[in-house]
Amino acid sequence: MPNKNLHEVNRLAWNEATVAHNSHKHDQAAFFRDGGSTLFPDEVELLGNIEGMSLVHLQCNAGQDSLSLARLSAAVTGVDISDTAIEFARTLSNESGIPAAFQRADVYDWLERAAQCNTRYDIVFSSYGALVWLSDIKTWAQGIASVLKPGGRLVYVDFHPISGVFEDGWKLTYDYMGGKTTEFEVGVGDYVAMSSEAITPSGYLEGVKDFQNPHPSYEFSWGVGEIVTATLDAGLQLTTLREYPYTNGFRRFTDMRELSGNRFTMPEGMPNFPLMMGLVAQKPETL
Ligand SMILES: C[S@@+](CC[C@H](N)C(=O)[O-])C[C@H]1O[C@@H](n2cnc3c(N)ncnc32)[C@H](O)[C@@H]1O
Repeated sequence: MPNKNLHEVNRLAWNEATVAHNSHKHDQAAFFRDGGSTLFPDEVELLGNIEGMSLVHLQCNAGQDSLSLARLSAAVTGVDISDTAIEFARTLSNESGIPAAFQRADVYDWLERAAQCNTRYDIVFSSYGALVWLSDIKTWAQGIASVLKPGGRLVYVDFHPISGVFEDGWKLTYDYMGGKTTEFEVGVGDYVAMSSEAITPSGYLEGVKDFQNPHPSYEFSWGVGEIVTATLDAGLQLTTLREYPYTNGFRRFTDMRELSGNRFTMPEGMPNFPLMMGLVAQKPETL
């Protein structure tokens, strides 16, 4: 069962963090009006051609990736639990002139309602810092299967769970799997300030300084085996599973080496291991 009480605590933390994050992003509406996109080549490759497709973007935050997907001619609905994120997303859609629908909800409530209303999508997309916020991997996968059209696909790209076991300094600190809950007394931090230009393609602004989240947050650890198994158990067929030795746009650890294309990898001399994963799974035509 999802632990919605903890999700509600996270909602407060994300409400604050989202304001700080967006304070660092220079005129995002102009960026989109000028044809900008916040997508990385990896998700574009996993998605393939999405022209004319219906797509729901789960945990869309302030909607930058949702609008970039809409720009590729998909009919996009973005869903997020954070009030401020959805407000930002709606404003950005209006000011950029890129149409997309945005709905504020806990992912689990939204998936349940969509299934009850018989709403179906060609693609469910979720990315970059998504599953660590969700307390029930099986219900997540089943909910996604229930809103996909036959032949529709889940496209998921995220930071690799193995990179989540470390704290700064590569100290082995956190659980890898089992849905273990970790409480952070100071909730979501200002990772946008930490990654600066790599995550702000519209330009970096100093914005909010020394952000301290007044709310705690709760994260959940899911290993690759659990993610894949939940997807298969929900009746989806795995078509792609990739691991990447870099992160897109996120300096997760202070000593990471910056690569071209706004990517970060391990420091010089450290053996590589996966820092991101990508998964595509299809709903059979008969399910
Ligand atoms: C790291 S951000 C994801 C950013 C996203 N990849 C994007 O396109 O910008 C994680 C998001 O998950 C949302 N979130 C956390 N728990 C959630 C839940 N239970 N239901 C819906 N959204 C949730 C947060 O509000 C936050 O916007």
